[in-house]
Order: sequence, then C-alpha cells, then structure tokens
Amino acid sequence: MPELQLPIYDLGTPKPRDAAGQVTISIDGQEVVVDEGTSVLRAAAIAGINIPKLCATDSLDAFGSCRMCVVEIEGRKGAPASCTTSVEDGMVVHTRSGKLEKLRRNILELYISDHPLDCVSCPSNGDCELQDVAEELGVESSRYGLQGQNHLQAAKDESNPYFTFDPSMCIVCYRCVRACNDIQGTFALTVDGRGFDSNISAGQMESFMDSECVSCGACVNSCPTTALVEKQVVEMGLPDKSTVTTCAYCGVGCTFNVETRGDEIVRMTPCKDGRANEGHACIKGRFAFGYFNHKDRITQPMIRDSIDEAWREVSWSEAIEYTARRFREIQAKYGRDSIGGITSSRCSNEETYLVQKLVRAGFGNNNVDTCARVCHSPTGYGLKTTLGESAGTQAFDSVAKADVIMLIGANPTAAHPVFGSRLKHRLRQGAQIIVVDPRETELVKSPHIRAAHHLQLKPGSNVAFFNSMAHVIVAEGLADLDYVRDRCEMPSWEAWSEFVTLEENSPESMQAVTGIPAGELRAAARLFANAGNGAIYYGLGVTEHSQGSTGVMGIANLAMATGNLGREGVGVNPLRGQNNVQGSCDMGSFPHELPGYRHISDPQVRELFENEWNVKLHPEPGLRIPNMLDAAINGEFRGLYCQGEDIAQSDPNTHHVEAAMKSLECLVVQDLFLNETARFAHVFLPGSTFLEKDGTFTNAERRISRVRKIMPSKSGREDWQITVELANALGYEMQYSHPSGIMDEIARLTPSFTGVSYEKLKRLGSIQWPCNKDAPDGTPTMHVDEFVRGKGYFAITGFVPTSERSTRRFPLLLTTGRILPQYNVGAQTRRTGNTAWADEDLLEIHPVDAEDRGIGNGDWVGIQSRAGDTVLHAVVTERVQPGVVYTTFHFPMSGANIVTTDNSDWATNCPEYKITAVQVSRVTQPSEWQKQQIEFNRQQQSLLEKARGSSA
Ligand code: SF4
Ligand code: SF4
Ligand code: SF4
Ligand code: FES
Repeated sequence: MPELQLPIYDLGTPKPRDAAGQVTISIDGQEVVVDEGTSVLRAAAIAGINIPKLCATDSLDAFGSCRMCVVEIEGRKGAPASCTTSVEDGMVVHTRSGKLEKLRRNILELYISDHPLDCVSCPSNGDCELQDVAEELGVESSRYGLQGQNHLQAAKDESNPYFTFDPSMCIVCYRCVRACNDIQGTFALTVDGRGFDSNISAGQMESFMDSECVSCGACVNSCPTTALVEKQVVEMGLPDKSTVTTCAYCGVGCTFNVETRGDEIVRMTPCKDGRANEGHACIKGRFAFGYFNHKDRITQPMIRDSIDEAWREVSWSEAIEYTARRFREIQAKYGRDSIGGITSSRCSNEETYLVQKLVRAGFGNNNVDTCARVCHSPTGYGLKTTLGESAGTQAFDSVAKADVIMLIGANPTAAHPVFGSRLKHRLRQGAQIIVVDPRETELVKSPHIRAAHHLQLKPGSNVAFFNSMAHVIVAEGLADLDYVRDRCEMPSWEAWSEFVTLEENSPESMQAVTGIPAGELRAAARLFANAGNGAIYYGLGVTEHSQGSTGVMGIANLAMATGNLGREGVGVNPLRGQNNVQGSCDMGSFPHELPGYRHISDPQVRELFENEWNVKLHPEPGLRIPNMLDAAINGEFRGLYCQGEDIAQSDPNTHHVEAAMKSLECLVVQDLFLNETARFAHVFLPGSTFLEKDGTFTNAERRISRVRKIMPSKSGREDWQITVELANALGYEMQYSHPSGIMDEIARLTPSFTGVSYEKLKRLGSIQWPCNKDAPDGTPTMHVDEFVRGKGYFAITGFVPTSERSTRRFPLLLTTGRILPQYNVGAQTRRTGNTAWADEDLLEIHPVDAEDRGIGNGDWVGIQSRAGDTVLHAVVTERVQPGVVYTTFHFPMSGANIVTTDNSDWATNCPEYKITAVQVSRVTQPSEWQKQQIEFNRQQQSLLEKARGSSA
C-alpha cells in the first residue's frame, strides 16, 4: 500500500544556518527554546502557535511585506512583523490582542477588496492561505467593497503548458518573485509598477512562455493563492492523497509527493524534506510525468519470428516461454556465451540487480553491461584507481560550503537543474566558479552569475588541461604538502609531481593544445589551489573521451594535491546523467564486477554469491556492449535481453549498432514504448513506469531513495517480476514476493549496503552508502580520515591526443550535450508537454563558421563525419567557439549518433561522444539515412498496428 504523507506544516521562515546557540523566549505565556537567529514567527510555529501570515513561507527568507504576522513584544514600540524579527533571549511576545486582530482584519479587508470572493468555485478552494487567514480572522467581506479600482478583469496567462497565472487572484506577496530568484536562480519574474498598479510580470511584461522562465514550478509551489496554479488542478480538482517517491529522470534524485485524486495523478510536488532537492524541482520531474499514460505505451507482450513480420500480441506466459526457448536454442547451437543482457540506469536497483543475476546465474556467463558504459564508466575506473571507491565523494549540500568550484564538462542548469540551482545559490553568496567548457553555459554568465574564469578549452584536450593545472600547483608551491604526506602514497606523489612539473606540461607549452591562454590558466590554478574549500564537479565532458579514465584520474590528482577531499565543501563529484546510473553500477551491471564492485575473478567473492545464488559462477569477465555488438556482427553473439535501454539511439555509430541488431536471432526488449531498438526486436515485454512499481534509485551522491508504487502496472507486471519469470522459465529458480526481499539479498551480499533495508529507508527517508555497522545511517562525506584504498594514489596522466581531430575534409569538431526540457533519448519527455520548449535537436554553429558556409539561423545543414551524415536545423550562436559545433541527441530522427564514431576510452570503452571531426554545409533535404529511417519506422509502425488490430 502507498504510504500517506501528512502535509508538512509551514514554519514561516527557514531554519537559521549555523546557529551559535539557543535562546529561550516566551510566546503567549509559553516558554520556547529555539536556535539563535530564528524568527519569532518560526519560534511560534515550532511551539504550535499559529500567527497569520501571507508573504512568509519557510522555503524563502522573510520579506516583511504583508504585515499580517504582526505581534507585540514587551519593551518594544508598535507591532513588528514576526517574520522579520529574530528571537532574543528573554523576549516576551504576544500574538493575540484586540489591537493585533484589528490590524490584521484591516489588512485582510484591503486584500480581499481586490480579490474575487468566489472561493467555492475556485480550483484552490481548501488549499489557499488567503482563505485560511480569512477564516481564522472571521472575515467574509471587505468594507471597502469590490467597486473601487481593482484587477478582477485582468487577463490570465495560459501560455505555459503546465500552469496558469491569473493576476486577478494575485495578492502581490512577492513569494513567486523570491522563489524564482532565491530558489531557482532564474530571475524571470519582476513586480512591474508601484503601489496599487503593482503587477507580477514574467520577463519584460511577456507571457511566461516568452520569458526566461524555465518552468521549474517554484513560483507555483510558493503562491499562497490560486494566482499560480497547475492546470491539472484546475481540470481535475485538488488531490486527496499524497505518496512520497523519487524522480525517475536525472541523477539528482529529487523526492516528490505524487498527489492523486482517486486513481488519477493530479500533480507532483517536490518534498521539502527531500535531502537531494529540499523542496525544489525542475520542469522534468515537476511536470513531465504524463508519458505514463501516453497512447504509444505498449502494455501487451508481443512476439515475432523475424523483424519483417507483424507483431503478435500474446499472453505473458507465452512471451516468457517463447523467450526462454529461443535463448536456450541459441545457447545449444552457438554456445553458452552467445547470449547476454543489458541493464538500465532508468530501472531500479532491484531490477538491475536481478538482470545481472539472471545473466550470471541463468545464462551462465557474465555478458552483462549497462548504459553507464556510455557515460560514467571512466568515473568508476578513475576514482577506484586513485581513491579506492568509484563514486562521488560528497552530498549535494556540501556545495554550500565550497569557496571555489571548478565545473568541468558539465552543464548542471540543463542536465542536473536542481543541483544547478543550489550551485547558483552558493555563487550568489560569494563563492567563485571556474567553468571549464568549450561552450558558454549559463554558469559562465547569467543574472547575478559571472564565472571567475571561463576556460574554453578545445574538445579533446582535457588531460592536457589537468596536467597544466597540476604543473602550476606543484611548480608554484601551491600543493598542500601536509595533506599529501598524511593521506597519500608518497612514491606516487613523487613520480607524479616530477611528471607534471616537466616543462612540456606547463600552461605555456600546452596552450596550443588546450587553446587556453597560459596566463588565465595560471590564474585559475592559483584561485583553485588557494581556496579554503575547493570543490570539483564534472560531467560527461570529462568521461566521454578516448582518455576519459585518464581525465577522471587527473581530477582526483588535483583534489588530493590541494587537500580537497574528506570534508564538506570540497570533493570530486561526478554529476550522473540518468536517475540510477550510480545504482546500476553498484548493482554489478558491468561484466567484470559483481555487486559492490568486486571482481568476478575473485574466488572468495564468487563463493559468497555462489552460496546465496545456489549456482556455479563463470570466473571470466563477459562482453561489454561494444564487444556484444562486434560479436553479433561476427555471428558469435545471437541473443540479447535489453531492459529499459535504447542502444539503437543512444550508442555511437548507429550504422554499426543497427547492423548488430539485425544480426541477432532473438532480441528481447523490455520497455515502455516501441523505441528505436525495439524496431529490431523479436520479443517485446512491456515495462512499467516508476509510478507503477516499488524499488529504490541511487543518485549521484550515493543516496538510496524509495520509489513507491502509485498505481498498478498497466501491463500487469512490474519489471522485476518479468525478470523473475524469465529466470524461472530458463530453469534457474528465483523466488521473491516484493522488491524489499531483493534489497535484503543485496544487503546480505554487498558490504556497502549491509545496513540498507526498506524499513530503514522509511525511517530515515534516504541513505547514502556505505551503510554498514561503521556507518549505520550512511555516509554523506567519503574518505574522511583515510581513502577507501588506504593512501591516495597519484596516477601519471600522460596526454595522448585523440585520433579524432579536425582535418581539411572535416574541419570542425562536433561535441554533444543535453537541454533542460528533454531527457536522454527523449522517449519519455518527447511524449509530454515539454516539446513546447524543444521539439528537435539543433546544431549550434559560431557566426564565423556559419558565414564561411553561407549558413543562416534555421537553415537545414548537413553534418558529415567519417562515420556517417545527418541533417539538422542550424542555430548561429556565439555560445560555441569558432571551429566547434554542438548538438543534442534527444530525437531519434536527428541521428546525432550516425555521425559519432566508435572511438572510445582506452580503459572502459566509454564512447568518445564529445569529439567528432565533421564538415557542415547548407543542404535542402534530409540525409539518405533519415529518409531510410522514415521508411523503416513506417514499416515497423504498420507491423505494430497489425498486432493491435488483430487483438481488437
Ligand atoms: S502570483 Fe502568487 S506568489 Fe506571486 S505575488 Fe501573486 S499571490 Fe504572491
Ligand atoms: S516556473 Fe520557475 S523559472 Fe518560471 S517563473 Fe516560476 S520560479 Fe521562475
Ligand atoms: S533535477 Fe533531476 S531528479 Fe530533480 S526533478 Fe529535475 S529531473 Fe528530476
Ligand atoms: S508574513 Fe510577515 S510580513 Fe507578511
């Protein structure tokens, strides 16, 4: 059963940060002990004494505009606002008196003289703070009447697909403006005009859609009336039940209340006590959940013998038996290693764990891999080698203590928006940021944000850059030698410091490679090394390179050399893309590692799993995804179970991937939609959305959070149940009655999860692993007294230029990334209102390069690389530097991965998505590949329609 969450009482103002001590005050005769710096309003709320308020809320600093919260304080004149008055020891406060009531009633009457009095028909009837205050004060009408000047006829702004703004309901409390400024950091709202003419305005008197608004919903959450309200609330009415779950989009892992009315979801609102998001959200998690109900959902299992045949809808038992038979036939014919599985970072820990168990125990090989292969596998390798643990070192709130933040190859305001807002908040408090990125992102320059340095390095030169930074730090004596002596392996330090101080690694020598002026790089290195707390955050711009793992080691080296690991405010923080990338890696999805990153070749580790799983395990690592694709084309690999992953769109060199898919004799896709990969499938097993199942996700800060079932699975099976049935049909017995039992097994077998259980997750809300007897409530900061490997290891990071470089034939470098409204391959967000913001991938090109080629904004441009070619619309912008072009990969028809090559990281095979040499030219029509795709999609859609028609 879903667990009900009681609404959390709004305490009026935020908890004071870093209170030095406590004070005792008296409120209405009641003694209250609170932290220094607490507002009188909050102190009263903590004591259960409700002071009426309108402009105050505990997610925003007090503003003091409405005067509804006035109180009397002995020894002070007048009636101060309790939200802007801090407690003082011995203070005596009275919240009720005839004078206060009169003041409040008068203010309220002024408000309602310009507010419709039709509460009964208002969509927020019962969820309106103005209504609550009016009821409390017994005010039903205003002696000022509604006849005077008012805003009651003001036009609604319905431009945003998800919420409306009705100025006639607005009481100009500034909560929305402050939420947009202080929480989201977008500064999209202003108050236009003065006095009575004050109006809330988006942008420069624009509609919300035309303004800078990024649709995070913070203003809607904070609005005390129905002036800003979700359209679904207007259409469906207020919710009557709330269940806590975790966002299924990015690696921030925001906690949400799923608010339902009957069986229907009305809205998702961010939880104030969610540790990853603290009440904030972004457009994806807050609003883009409607895909669960999209007409494209496939909810009936389907099979076919060849991809040219129509699908046949079948029962679950027939689909499972068919799959098991085909897999066993393939193994009998081609050998045990001819099949494998791919786990998904969109699925839960429990589901991922079961797929790797199925492969190892049921298939009898280790041919299991995950989509983390193509994003953060170098993080695993690089951090494990240097620090001993392949995960980020901090909690997100650590950034609030950072003084200098180095952000490398990441664009958090687009890809990890709630963390991006936290980061901006810290920068507005005075921390400095060094942005290392070929592109000008929002954190380089935006309202109230100016990067101390934007190091616009050339794509492919990361390792040269890290070495130059290290050169300055070591050569100029800026390293923290006490920390290094205490915490690190000295022989490795000596070898590394000797290496980085070689003249060839100096910023001057590397300037031609990195493109960064040596003086600016030196200044950035000094700033970082001299920071009290220097924190590094990085993304796929570091990992998706031929030297991705080397780059990650370069980052760890910099952090160790400057003593920036093992406390709050510092650390090495990979920003994980999908919701459960961390978890899918933790759960043993890589072919060489069992859960908890333990090598499959270790006999003691194998024995542990063999005893629990009652099977003999194969000691050799299996195939990685690229190896599976190669082996499929070679005819050695014939069957694949692909859960929740769309390799035909997400993996590089699409021609190669599609050829591999076509070579398979049995491709089983378990997903929500007939995605690009499923067009090549023989079995389609309908998956469940995060709203339809129980489980856990682990976010980028190692935080394990519950996913809770809101509604029954539309297909009749949760994903974990499908894997269990497949295992049993293959003759390997699995018995679980609930995902909590799977987590119990994970905890028994995985040292960093020993203390994790659903019961503890319910009690604590979330847990950051390691969670074991040494850290029963989890570990927010890692490597505090010593590194997981003991002493930190400085790895030598020689720079090896990629073979992918600009030539006369391909003179531009293409790099790729994400945009805020769309998510990864777009299968979910493309089926929501988010397409109003972005409905195609675009190619960004610098004006100089565009002019050379006669390209204008909006023109069709052909992009050719040695791997293939595609056609997109152009955006001419100075966000990219000359010589670099940029696109996203959210839309399958764009074919971004037709162009990317199969170059990959030397250690992990993570593809080199971030650098492809291309030529760009103006064209007039789609590419040949795009035309073929249109035809192939049409064929596959018709084969799907036949299945649906036959079952109608
Ligand atoms: S829209 Fe809502 S939050 Fe904004 S000023 Fe008006 S009433 Fe206050
Ligand atoms: S939705 Fe977010 S970005 Fe848009 S106006 Fe509201 S707070 Fe600002
Ligand atoms: S920041 Fe990430 S986890 Fe949070 S709501 Fe947005 S997509 Fe979901
Ligand atoms: S709630 Fe204190 S002044 Fe508005």
